[in-house]
Amino acid sequence: MQLSARIEQVGTPPITAVKGWIKGRTYSPARPLVDLCQAIPDYPPARGLRQYMQKLVTQPQVAVYTPDEGLEEVRVEVAAWYRRHYAGAEALSAENICLSIGASQAFWLALLLVAESGDEVIIQTPAYFDHLMALETLGITPICVADTLCEEPGKRRDGGAESLCASIEARITPRTRAIVIVTPSNPTGKVQSTAEIEELYACAHRHNIALVLDETYNAFLPPGQAPHHLFNKPDWGRNFIHLASFGKTFALTGYRAGALIADAELIQRALKIQDSMVVCQPRLTQLAIAWGCRHLDAWVEHNAESMRQRHDAFCSLFKAAEHGFELCSSGAFFAWVKHPWPQASGWQVARHLAEHADLISLPGEAFGPGLHQYLRLAFGNLKHEDVAAAVERFTRVLPPRG
Ligand SMILES: Cc1ncc(COP(=O)(O)O)c(C=O)c1O
Repeated sequence: MQLSARIEQVGTPPITAVKGWIKGRTYSPARPLVDLCQAIPDYPPARGLRQYMQKLVTQPQVAVYTPDEGLEEVRVEVAAWYRRHYAGAEALSAENICLSIGASQAFWLALLLVAESGDEVIIQTPAYFDHLMALETLGITPICVADTLCEEPGKRRDGGAESLCASIEARITPRTRAIVIVTPSNPTGKVQSTAEIEELYACAHRHNIALVLDETYNAFLPPGQAPHHLFNKPDWGRNFIHLASFGKTFALTGYRAGALIADAELIQRALKIQDSMVVCQPRLTQLAIAWGCRHLDAWVEHNAESMRQRHDAFCSLFKAAEHGFELCSSGAFFAWVKHPWPQASGWQVARHLAEHADLISLPGEAFGPGLHQYLRLAFGNLKHEDVAAAVERFTRVLPPRG
């Protein structure tokens, strides 16, 4: 059988690769595996939600397809959630929403709506690795624009000193179809300010391309930080596409709870892709999202606050410990660190930590070019009480040999 040459060139998913290193290994209760590999809330869905879902699975109707975009009553609840959380989103309605198999599939919908093989998409790096993999799989060229993190303030890693928006605008060509930004960022936790997002939207508008904001972690913004005001603009749908993950918000990652939010006409176009790709998000997931939107604002805020406390504990212990790793950036779920061994790649260091510190993380290379000196640590998986032991593992590991 002949295989797609393009797929041959796409790397193995990094989490799969890292978990492959420890397959079959066992760990003693005295020294358990520290898993800083994947961003999964460490807590279960709310009890009320679990009880509701338990009842749902006994109902035969729940096993049946829904309309491609999702049930109207669910999308009405999602729109109401957005109106509560995004100032000025009054005009957002069910027509702007297509429920998807996680934010992951929403990204595919967005890409397929705006770009074709051979086109370019500008992506801020460090970038979410699945975005890079999706672009490569579709033959769309990622144009990486590096963000400032470890370097001096105002100076970008690619040498320029201009704003993120100016760096991005300088890379726009007639083939550019979209600008992709993840905020809060995976892998760095960095939050783009509302002013920066406004500037990026204005840039997308000027060039008539899409600004695709992946806001998977929007329920975990720092206190007092408002999300952007783009939904406030009368013509926001002309150049803005939003990707949502209720998987993180309601701890439903395995139920694949995402959404594409865009101009109503674009949503109608997206259904051509949706129908042939997945038909619809599972009905059980849809009903769970609606229940979460209706009942869980306080539960979400409580968990976001405990995630902030875990962040603060992790960062202060990590900075105080003597291990040579440098904390460059952090935020919801993630810390982005520079490892102390410039002669070693991120892949080598991540493997070394897996084998000698019983700790799994992701190598910088997974997040874009030129990032071999970095690791992503997903501390969102840790229980608060396990943070100190996790940080200690970094202090006890010897440099890799060779
Ligand atoms: C930035 C970003 N986008 C999308 C996803 C995927 O989300 P979902 O599980 O909803 O597909 C993740 C998951 O880690 C993520 O970090």
